[in-house]
Amino acid sequence: MATYPFTFKRILKYPRTVTIVGLMAIGVLVFSKCSDKKDENPGVIENASGERFAGSASCAGCHKDIFDHHLKTAHYLTSRPATAEYIKGSFEAGKNAYFFNASVVVEMEKRSNGFYQVEYFRDQQKKAKRFDIVVGSGTMGQSYLYWSDHKLFQLPITYFTAADTWSNSPGFPDKVVFNRVITSRCLECHATYAKTISDPGIEPERFDSTRLILGVDCEKCHGPAAKHVDFQSAHPNEKKGQFIINPASLSRQQNLDLCASCHGGRLQKTQPSFSFKVGDKLSDFYIVDTTAPKPENIDVHGNQYALMRASKCFRMTQTLTCNTCHNTHQREKGQTALFSQRCMECHNNGHGSDCKLTQSLGKVITSNCIDCHMPLQPSKAIAVRLQGEEQPVAAMIRSHYVSIYPDETKRILLELKKEPRKK
Ligand code: HEC
Ligand code: HEC
Ligand code: HEC
Ligand code: HEC
Ligand code: HEC
Ligand code: HEC
Ligand code: HEC
Repeated sequence: MATYPFTFKRILKYPRTVTIVGLMAIGVLVFSKCSDKKDENPGVIENASGERFAGSASCAGCHKDIFDHHLKTAHYLTSRPATAEYIKGSFEAGKNAYFFNASVVVEMEKRSNGFYQVEYFRDQQKKAKRFDIVVGSGTMGQSYLYWSDHKLFQLPITYFTAADTWSNSPGFPDKVVFNRVITSRCLECHATYAKTISDPGIEPERFDSTRLILGVDCEKCHGPAAKHVDFQSAHPNEKKGQFIINPASLSRQQNLDLCASCHGGRLQKTQPSFSFKVGDKLSDFYIVDTTAPKPENIDVHGNQYALMRASKCFRMTQTLTCNTCHNTHQREKGQTALFSQRCMECHNNGHGSDCKLTQSLGKVITSNCIDCHMPLQPSKAIAVRLQGEEQPVAAMIRSHYVSIYPDETKRILLELKKEPRKK
């Protein structure tokens, strides 16, 4: 196989891994006799440091309220098994096809053992691959993955929510592509844990599909929690949580690093996948961009951290983190008045700087600071080609550069005039 030089180069990128791999190799030599046949505890999932995951279902018994709300969040829903419950696009005749041209079409079909994307050339079936994993809660859209020989591949057709239609997958050429391989980096942001079974440093990796925790689940933000569950179950009268991380007790930077590991733009790994954990320093695991790029050069998709960091709200306070405005246990999308309340914790008549428009706009202003100061903007990174369209259509995402946007204000004031104060 031609992977050797590639592997070598990759391993050099992880100097520490070399030693660990070396030690592991010795371990394997010593223990190979006894470890050969066992499937190390079927069903048990543990990370590279041997910390065991409990799975979020086990939290439900003692943290029912948080658990119930969590199931509705975009985090939980961001990767799920590809069942009818989670796939958003339509399989109905007339709505289930994406035509690349007059002869080439991909149809979404329900078959006896699952849902498929099927490529036809002049009505001849060319290729059929099953939807195995859904990626994306569907706020903007969903892409779909299939398994092949322990590797994951992205299906050619994506669902685009704004147009409620199937589209060519983002970044794909204008033809049917079934061989776009998915690396662990994709799963690091869209799942909680995936066990790699290929040698460290080789991409694309092969994964153990029975040791995959989908969704951005409780244990992504609190750490592997089996020990906590065992302890609390054995000590039901214990009122203090043990063997578990509460981000509230971490520093500002540790909190920011947790969210930035997925909302901090493109990061380049310096450690094996899934090594970074809540409480860790991000720069120990990735090459982190510490320069302050201009907000207009940062895409609104996937880099809320850099945009927020450029904002005065962030720079001129000691405490503001993502959690100041977001309660990640709840699905809060669209609750503009609630978010505006959080702005007013710092910006109100009696405290901090107030909005200069407060006097003229009166009550209207207090229910929506967001559309004027954090407007929706088109993403350059997430744009899809809809059937028959020449230009890709961009997803609209909130800018986290909190600032003054005169054009947005004009537009909103105009709308308010047309539609006199309802609220
Ligand atoms: C057998 C009961 C039990 C189970 C199961 C359980 N917990 Fe807890 N947990 C507790 C108790 C009791 C506390 C302490 C009181 C509190 O903060 O709610 C706690 C506290 C916590 C805290 C806050 C810790 C702190 O220092 O403030 C977190 C975070 C947490 N649990 C997460 C989880 C997660 C994630 C799971 C599932 C993987 C889980 N718990 C399962 C009983 C449990
Ligand atoms: C493991 C990666 C990961 C981590 C860690 C993470 N997020 Fe996310 N987050 C995502 C992904 C992926 C989405 C997109 C989910 C979707 O719509 O499919 C998302 C979506 C969101 C959303 C949008 C919710 C909605 O309803 O549309 C908010 C807000 C958010 N994250 C805040 C946070 C905050 C705050 C933290 C830190 C406490 C955090 N995230 C940590 C990956 C992560
Ligand atoms: C660095 C982390 C990161 C990586 C890597 C990443 N994503 Fe995302 N992705 C996000 C975040 C964060 C969001 C949602 C918020 C945003 O757009 O800023 C998102 C949104 C999405 C959405 C739209 C979800 C929705 O409904 O709103 C899809 C689909 C998606 N990603 C697929 C993928 C696929 C497939 C890959 C791998 C090939 C990938 N992403 C790689 C972080 C990441
Ligand atoms: C995206 C990250 C994220 C996910 C996912 C997440 N939490 Fe949390 N959790 C946090 C943060 C951040 C805090 C601290 C909030 C603060 O600053 O007060 C927290 C606090 C807690 C606490 C302490 C008490 C409280 O209510 O603040 C418990 C208990 C808890 N989480 C349990 C869970 C359980 C159970 C799940 C899954 C069902 C879960 N969390 C999922 C980020 C997350
Ligand atoms: C933790 C406190 C805090 C929170 C929460 C907060 N801000 Fe700020 N914000 C500040 C500080 C401090 C400044 C800089 C000094 C000032 O103008 O008061 C600032 C500045 C601003 C500015 C002026 C920006 C500029 O470039 O001149 C705007 C607009 C603003 N904030 C809007 C908001 C909105 C909208 C929200 C909610 C989405 C919000 N802030 C949440 C503390 C905060
Ligand atoms: C000053 C308040 C504030 C802070 C701080 C903040 N956000 Fe947000 N965020 C918002 C508001 C408001 C929205 C829009 C919510 C809605 O769509 O209803 C939002 C939306 C999002 C979304 C969804 C974007 C979209 O358009 O789909 C993500 C992801 C997100 N925030 C992540 C983060 C992360 C990560 C951090 C920390 C780096 C952070 N936020 C800090 C106020 C804030
Ligand atoms: C209709 C659009 C609009 C809404 C709604 C709005 N703002 Fe503003 N805001 C502006 C504009 C425009 C400015 C700049 C005005 C100026 O400097 O004369 C501004 C200025 C500010 C400033 C900077 C003040 C300073 O002294 O530098 C802050 C802080 C602010 N707004 C916060 C808020 C908060 C908090 C809310 C919600 C309670 C809000 N704004 C709602 C348009 C809006």
